[in-house]
Amino acid sequence: MRQHKLALCKDHYLEWVPEQVERFIKKYEMFTREEKILVAVSGGKDSLALWDILTRLGYQADGMYIGLGIDGGIGYSDESHRLTEEFARKHNLKLHVVDMAQEYGLPIPVLAEVSHRGKGKPCAVCGLAKRHEMNRIARDLGYDVLVTGHNLDDEAAVLFGNTLIWEGEYLLRQGPVLPARDGLARKVKPLCRFYEREMAAYSIARGIEYIYEECPFAEGSQSIYYKELLNQLETARPGAKLTFYLRFLEARKNGNLFVEKSAAAAHLHACPKCGQPTSTDDFCSFCRLIEKTTVSAGGLPGERGN
Ligand code: AMP
Ligand code: FES
Ligand code: ZN
Repeated sequence: MRQHKLALCKDHYLEWVPEQVERFIKKYEMFTREEKILVAVSGGKDSLALWDILTRLGYQADGMYIGLGIDGGIGYSDESHRLTEEFARKHNLKLHVVDMAQEYGLPIPVLAEVSHRGKGKPCAVCGLAKRHEMNRIARDLGYDVLVTGHNLDDEAAVLFGNTLIWEGEYLLRQGPVLPARDGLARKVKPLCRFYEREMAAYSIARGIEYIYEECPFAEGSQSIYYKELLNQLETARPGAKLTFYLRFLEARKNGNLFVEKSAAAAHLHACPKCGQPTSTDDFCSFCRLIEKTTVSAGGLPGERGN
């Protein structure tokens, strides 16, 4: 893990991950051991790993799977459903299943087509349906908190997309915890600081069977494109993705997003040397730079004194 300058063997890695998750749960005040947790499980590596970790940490976490009715020539939904059921059975965990076709008579591809939304891509409709169903089950069954497996790659890609078009509203709301309000359950993302590959490594090392395929409709999507761009950046500058996300959280917490810093401007005064405005009590940064350079170079070439 170049971003942490840390390398661990399998056994220590499998201890380190839950320790970190526990730390993030506390740091961001996500939930407690007394609360009833609903984990949205898709059959992918992130959400299955998350369910595994929360269970290992002793949290009361039930699962919820939404059958989307997506085939894509690979039986995508059937296979992810099977793997999720298998995981629940193996670990003796409770799983709620909602099937879009059974519940509403409309699998996602059909719902997207008949509603004419999303220009042939069902992803927007699918996202809407998933959010709706997750909240409905969490609320109707009395869960305190809804937990999803979004990882750092997911969060950084969303953040990048929102930053590109300065989506202020979304930026102010994005974070590890979305508090409950007006009938919406509290939503939290305990894996938001883990790279996608860290979760893949965890799942493989734990022997978790998950669906390797992405949703067949994800191909060519904007979020995948942003993830690729961020991966290029990460390759050149290890840790860039994590810093991008963490600095954003920090700025948001400190109220530094979209807030004019008029206070700093009010404290400007004239540099004693050049007279230009500066925020320090001393010479301005430029004058200090020149001073330092002049001293260390023993005077500038051709300098005629003051
Ligand atoms: P995605 O939107 O596919 O990147 O998934 C993000 C998170 O949403 C996953 O980590 C799960 O927690 C949840 N999720 C996605 N698809 C499903 C599903 N079919 N059933 C339950 N939860 C899901
Ligand atoms: Fe919903 Fe792909 S369209 S998971
Ligand atoms: Zn100056």
